[in-house]
Amino acid sequence: MKGVILAGGLATRLRPLTSVTNKHLLPVYNKPMIYYPLEMMKRTGIKEVLLITSGGHVGDFANLLLSGEEFGLRLYYAIQQNPTGGIADGLKLAEEFARKEPILVILGDNIFNFDLTASIARFESVLERDKKGAMVFGVRREKLAQQYGVIEMDKDGKVLSIEEKPENPKSDVAQTGIYVYDQRVFDFTRNLEPSARGQLEVTDLNNIYLKEQSLLCETIDWWVDAGTSHDELLQANIQVAELVKQGKL
Ligand code: G1P
Repeated sequence: MKGVILAGGLATRLRPLTSVTNKHLLPVYNKPMIYYPLEMMKRTGIKEVLLITSGGHVGDFANLLLSGEEFGLRLYYAIQQNPTGGIADGLKLAEEFARKEPILVILGDNIFNFDLTASIARFESVLERDKKGAMVFGVRREKLAQQYGVIEMDKDGKVLSIEEKPENPKSDVAQTGIYVYDQRVFDFTRNLEPSARGQLEVTDLNNIYLKEQSLLCETIDWWVDAGTSHDELLQANIQVAELVKQGKL
């Protein structure tokens, strides 16, 4: 399995912090934000990671992360020319890199301490059996702000629906920015149409797998999306500092 980290976008909601830098380079406690998904890739046993970012900032990432040796990884870089194309648009750039292997995708501003190894082993055994599949990760939120995809599941954890930022959420489970896809993902991204906000939505992609009943879902306990607002970034700093001091991250 190969790793893909999406670290593009304009991050207008975090201005002026992001006026001259990429939000994934901003500090979260004692490290730049991008370190957290990279460390999770390593923990999962992934050896090669493609970092997808915008042209204006790729040099900063390269200066910071170099070849990825510090993380025990081989790092590759790709440039998403349209920073507002969306997650599924960014993924298109990983097709050659993936070389028909499945991919683990983590959004560059997602921080969590869940070890993905067992989930990925489950995905791989399903993939071997069914020759197809994708996996999403959900997290329960007491109050679901209208900023996430929402996953509705039955009592056995089977996904019933995923809706992008619904007005009336059908559950309290937010879709995180952690996804696993089989090699067909690139064919599926080619057929997506832009949403009302003009993006190729990851939720539309996941719904293709849901429709063919090959979508798996796992729930994780703790997760922050550090890049959506100044408050979320502040919360991420506070919670990460606490977890690091407790040895839990
Ligand atoms: C994206 C996804 C959304 C998901 C979120 C997690 O939202 O579209 O389903 O819940 O990431 O961070 P965006 O950040 O593009 O608004």
